[in-house]
Amino acid sequence: MSYELRFSISSLLILISVAWLYRRSLGNRKAEKPYPKSLLKNGEAFSESLYYQIKPLRNFEWRNTNPIQIRPFKPKYHLTMALENTTISELLDVDKTYLDRIRLRRQLIKDHGNIVVDANKKIAPAVSEFYTWMMGTYLPLRYPTMFQIVQNTSMVPKQRSQPLLTSLVTRETIPIRPPSTAIEALSLLGSHIDTEFLFLLPSSDPADDGKYKLEGYVTCFPSGFDTRKKINLTLADIHTPVPGYASKLEKSMDRFFATLPVGKIVKRVNWSVTTNTDLFALGGNHVYEGEDTKYESIDLEKTVLRCERQTLHRLPESKALVFAFKTFQYPIRQIKEEGNGEMLAAAIEGLSDGSVPRMAYYKRGVVWGNAVREFLRS
Ligand code: HEM
Ligand SMILES: *[C@@H]1O[C@H](CO)[C@@H](O)[C@H](O)[C@H]1NC(C)=O
Ligand SMILES: *[C@@H]1O[C@H](CO)[C@@H](O)[C@H](O)[C@H]1NC(C)=O
Ligand SMILES: *[C@@H]1O[C@H](CO)[C@@H](O)[C@H](O)[C@H]1NC(C)=O
Ligand SMILES: *[C@@H]1O[C@H](CO)[C@@H](O)[C@H](O)[C@H]1NC(C)=O
Repeated sequence: MSYELRFSISSLLILISVAWLYRRSLGNRKAEKPYPKSLLKNGEAFSESLYYQIKPLRNFEWRNTNPIQIRPFKPKYHLTMALENTTISELLDVDKTYLDRIRLRRQLIKDHGNIVVDANKKIAPAVSEFYTWMMGTYLPLRYPTMFQIVQNTSMVPKQRSQPLLTSLVTRETIPIRPPSTAIEALSLLGSHIDTEFLFLLPSSDPADDGKYKLEGYVTCFPSGFDTRKKINLTLADIHTPVPGYASKLEKSMDRFFATLPVGKIVKRVNWSVTTNTDLFALGGNHVYEGEDTKYESIDLEKTVLRCERQTLHRLPESKALVFAFKTFQYPIRQIKEEGNGEMLAAAIEGLSDGSVPRMAYYKRGVVWGNAVREFLRS
């Protein structure tokens, strides 16, 4: 072999080793393509589907994004489903409150156990399906400036390398393969996403006629209810405290939940006024039948318009329904200063002028109504 040939072979070998070492050193930092397919049983069938057509927010800067401003009030309150179509891309919403909110959520998950996270056995496959899609597909595709897929380079070679999700916000790695229990999966979802997720399945009891029941949840920010007391209940039983539900909503809701097709995503918003700023509120935001509404002094500086942006969609594989909501709070001082004071004041009056006058009572309008209206109009 000539000297020249030997020389070029050894330089080639050196070059290859350097390139190999370089690739290895990139290791965990190298972003990979989203990873839904091989983790799903029917990956091929769904990979082209709508749940993978997610529009990326390429230049999204969560720290510079103000919370969306929802002003859903109407002069009269009519109790309807009021659902609108949306897209799977818009399932979540992120803004500058993200880091503070997820810190609070983690504390609540640690302190309150099954008040905020719980799941029955039969919902585990649905939770795993949603978890894998959320961590492996939705988050990295929708929010690439916050979440990226990386390979776990500490795995023994030969083992199939396992992708992970990295949060660029918290610098944590998150497994894409679901953890071993649904409660752990829900806790991780709740620790990285500022949205509540509630999972429903048709009842297996023939007497329930296919009505949907709550089977699992992560609900860190309930507005005045304890989700523990709602698990295993049908929609109608979940909503018993809501005046007018049985006569105005129950039938259409049951039909809607039973027939919502895979691929159709709907949203709605609701509102109330609360005289505290607690995101985690097990009670106190509603008045129930038979309760006293005694005089209460109201701190207008702590009084907020509380809105939820809610979505509902069906998982393609397990066919479970996922009800999700994100909570927003706007100081009523802000509503007044932006010039919407009269509109909110009128909507408060409209609670008792609509299809369900007892709504004013349920939303505690009887407690805060006068003081808040007076403030908004002053
Ligand atoms: C998308 C369909 C839904 C509609 C139209 C709806 C409607 C309502 C309405 C009108 C209220 C009264 C509070 C308000 O908004 O002012 C309410 C309360 C509530 N909803 Fe729903 N809801 C829906 C889905 C769900 C689902 C799927 C769950 C749970 C899995 C749920 C859980 C609750 C709870 C826990 C309350 C509070 C009840 C209480 O005071 O104890 N809702 N809902
Ligand atoms: C929502 O989409 C469905 C098709 O999935 C359509 O039939 C319906 O009219 C749409 N509703 C609205 C309010 O646009
Ligand atoms: C990466 O793989 C190693 C070896 O299998 C494992 O010990 C480690 O827990 C994995 N890292 C994560 C974040 O899953
Ligand atoms: C809900 O039902 C499941 C069985 O499906 C049962 O194991 C669980 O204890 C029930 N939870 C409550 C709080 O009643
Ligand atoms: C909004 O609706 C949700 C679910 O339907 C309910 O839990 C909550 O109490 C309502 N929130 C407000 C602020 O009225």
